[in-house]
Amino acid sequence: MTDFSGLFTPFQLGKFTLPNRIVFPPMGLEVCEGGVPSDEAAEYYARRAEGGASMVITEGVYIDHPSSGDNPLLGRFHGEDAFAGWRNVAEKVHAAGGITVPELWHVGLVYRGPDVLVGNDVDFRADLGQVSPSGYIAPGKQVTDPMTQAQIDEVIAAYARGTAKAVELGFDGIELHGAHGYIIDQFLWKALNHRTDRYGGTPRARGQFAAEVIQACREQLLPGQPIIMRMSNWKMVDFNARLADTPQELEELLAPVVDAGIELFDCSQRRFWEPCFEDQGDMNLAGWVKKVTGVPTCTIGSVGLDLDFLVSLGEGKTAELDLKQLEELMRRFDRGDFDLIAVGRAMIAEPDWPKLVQSGAFEQLKPFSTALMADPLMAHVKA
Ligand SMILES: Cc1cc2nc3c(=O)[nH]c(=O)nc-3n(C[C@H](O)[C@H](O)[C@H](O)COP(=O)(O)O)c2cc1C
Repeated sequence: MTDFSGLFTPFQLGKFTLPNRIVFPPMGLEVCEGGVPSDEAAEYYARRAEGGASMVITEGVYIDHPSSGDNPLLGRFHGEDAFAGWRNVAEKVHAAGGITVPELWHVGLVYRGPDVLVGNDVDFRADLGQVSPSGYIAPGKQVTDPMTQAQIDEVIAAYARGTAKAVELGFDGIELHGAHGYIIDQFLWKALNHRTDRYGGTPRARGQFAAEVIQACREQLLPGQPIIMRMSNWKMVDFNARLADTPQELEELLAPVVDAGIELFDCSQRRFWEPCFEDQGDMNLAGWVKKVTGVPTCTIGSVGLDLDFLVSLGEGKTAELDLKQLEELMRRFDRGDFDLIAVGRAMIAEPDWPKLVQSGAFEQLKPFSTALMADPLMAHVKA
């Protein structure tokens, strides 16, 4: 019998003592009409805190910059109407007992229109004045000029404005979306960063943009409010991409981020059990990031389910429960590979996931089917 008790021990994140190690991760459900979260959306987030998630990370929210992203059904972090909605989210999650941070997001060159939920389908949106470090939309595919220093400064300032707003609206800190091939990741990933100034050319230089974003955001936060950075090997445009070929390269890449100072790396994988490097043992991304940086990490990716999220979002698919790999999760957790776990789809389907796991009521956990996405705010009621 697997012992899950380690998941129900406290964890210090900045000034907050989380009561357990289970986090609700950022997931854009395309239900924010005009970018504004409704009262139902706020209830949906709060319901996950009520179910036991110690921290609720909002879906990726577009920061206040012309090309941060413009899917009209995903959350916007600019405009007074949207702010009223996000204030409501923060209040409701707090009332349910969780802490909450928004995931601040700029897509760089990866535009996700309403019809492009998943996959490699990306368009260059010249009309939005899209920007990226070297103008590459995918490896080998340059579609525009590299960013100027002034453009870089504008994006950094937009992250700082988003952070100031997060504090004003009552959030507890921020998560930066530095994963999946969006703008921060476009600087980190050598296939898209061909700069020769201080932002490119070496692993350390590729981490510089993230570090400057973090410094600018830190100035806006209150003492003890955490900065979390999401990162990943996989990209929307390349599922097999790698940020670094060796642990040493990973260490150099993240050194400026560590120096800038963050509280947690949120290490996104599609399947948590996959090793980070081919020839360096079984440790996953969260394991290696923790090892080379000394900073706490969160792991994610198909916890409790048998299909990864991009596969399971396919037409008519269902990710079934896979409780056996929870043993594997705990083996890694107990080994100290990571400090937190995030549970996405399994907690869309069953918001009480943390409470049920704690009480051993595994028979009440639910699979995740694409059908739930037709009305995701109420998915748990139908599941
Ligand atoms: C519908 C949906 C929307 C998502 N939107 C975001 C997002 O806005 N930002 C982000 O960083 N990840 C996003 N993700 C990825 C999830 O945060 C998570 O990494 C992924 O679902 C794997 O976790 P799981 O297997 O527990 O579901 C999304 C995933 C899903 C299923």
